[in-house]
Amino acid sequence: MKQLTIQSSSHAYDVIIGAGLRKKLSQKLGKSYKKILIVTDSKVSSLYLEDVKAGLPDHENLSHVIVPAGEASKSMEQYSRLLDKCIEEQLDRSSLIVGLGGGMVGDLAGFVASTYLRGVDFLQMPTTILAHDSSVGGKVAINHEQGKNLIGSFYSPVQVIYDTDTLRTLPDSEVRSGYGEVVKHALLSDMDWVKEVLSEDFSELSYSQLGDHLLAGIKVKASIVEEDEKEHGVRRHLNLGHTLAHALESDLGYGEITHGEAVAIGIFFAMKVSEKVLESTLPVDAYSAWLKTNEYPVEKLSNLNPERLVNRMKWDKKTIEDRIHFVLLKGVGSPAVVPIPEDDLVNHLKEFIEEVIQIDERD
Ligand SMILES: NC(=O)c1ccc[n+]([C@@H]2O[C@H](COP(=O)([O-])OP(=O)(O)OC[C@H]3O[C@@H](n4cnc5c(N)ncnc54)[C@H](O)[C@@H]3O)[C@@H](O)[C@H]2O)c1
Ligand SMILES: [Zn+2]
Repeated sequence: MKQLTIQSSSHAYDVIIGAGLRKKLSQKLGKSYKKILIVTDSKVSSLYLEDVKAGLPDHENLSHVIVPAGEASKSMEQYSRLLDKCIEEQLDRSSLIVGLGGGMVGDLAGFVASTYLRGVDFLQMPTTILAHDSSVGGKVAINHEQGKNLIGSFYSPVQVIYDTDTLRTLPDSEVRSGYGEVVKHALLSDMDWVKEVLSEDFSELSYSQLGDHLLAGIKVKASIVEEDEKEHGVRRHLNLGHTLAHALESDLGYGEITHGEAVAIGIFFAMKVSEKVLESTLPVDAYSAWLKTNEYPVEKLSNLNPERLVNRMKWDKKTIEDRIHFVLLKGVGSPAVVPIPEDDLVNHLKEFIEEVIQIDERD
């Protein structure tokens, strides 16, 4: 078992990582609660809900609510349904809401917890690799038709209980997705860790090493959000790979590529641009080989139009005048936010798409 404490602007909370923790929730709770509501999704519930409930044996006032699996549940409709459930169960200020699932459940359940009765305690039980990123840092939100995460708040959990055994049932695409954020944290951190991640072949994943990577990723995220919770400065470095990723996700259509897969491709682009613009020396060849070994869907770039992608990037939050603010790397562990003129970006993207497709076809 591994543990660390994160300091948010409102309180400190523990993150506990270990195998089998989902069955031991009552031993891990920091205090006793009169009522507990577990929020989960339709896939995770069939795998782990009973185990979590069995781990809370002395709780008569235990209820649960299941939302459909998938990003579409981060909606006003499910939000409202969950509030109805809170009221029906008569949750009060001394109650707890548990989010059991990936980032979707965490964001949705956390937003409910942050607004119901102006805030009740919220506990995260992440079940995806990607959720090592989403479960800490305090951002909770639902989506609007006009865009992702448009309605939300900053609301940190009281605890994060991360059972690494649950990660064994993740489909390959979700392992790739989670590792998109892990490799981001590694690149923002140090070369030894980058080498370790880039030597990883997911078909032979070691779950004890994965536990180490999750802890290390959470530490990187924690140290950044402790310094800048509300994203005025260094928290922007966590957007490494995300400007292109968000454009790819919306251009391909949500669901066509997972978030972390798009981030992994976005990071590759940021590395290439860093070499050109900042003359950085980065492990691009090893990164490219890692994408290939683990079957990141780079071929999806082949029919995309660079101008249209750049237009989409402009809609992302980081545009000032006609320059798009990109997170680049001066080196591993040394990020920088660099404004790049739109026209340059279109050219970089054209070259990138050609190169990536050539690499893909050659092998
Ligand atoms: N709050 C933040 O700081 C932050 C950061 C990054 C991402 N996010 C959000 O996180 C969400 C993405 O998270 P995600 O990738 O975990 O998606 P997700 O929660 O939708 O999970 C992905 C899929 O895996 C399934 N699943 C979850 N756990 C499983 C398990 N153990 N075994 C088998 N299947 C399992 C889910 O049912 C779903 O189908 C997005 O909504 C994104 O906006 C938030
Ligand atoms: Zn992300």
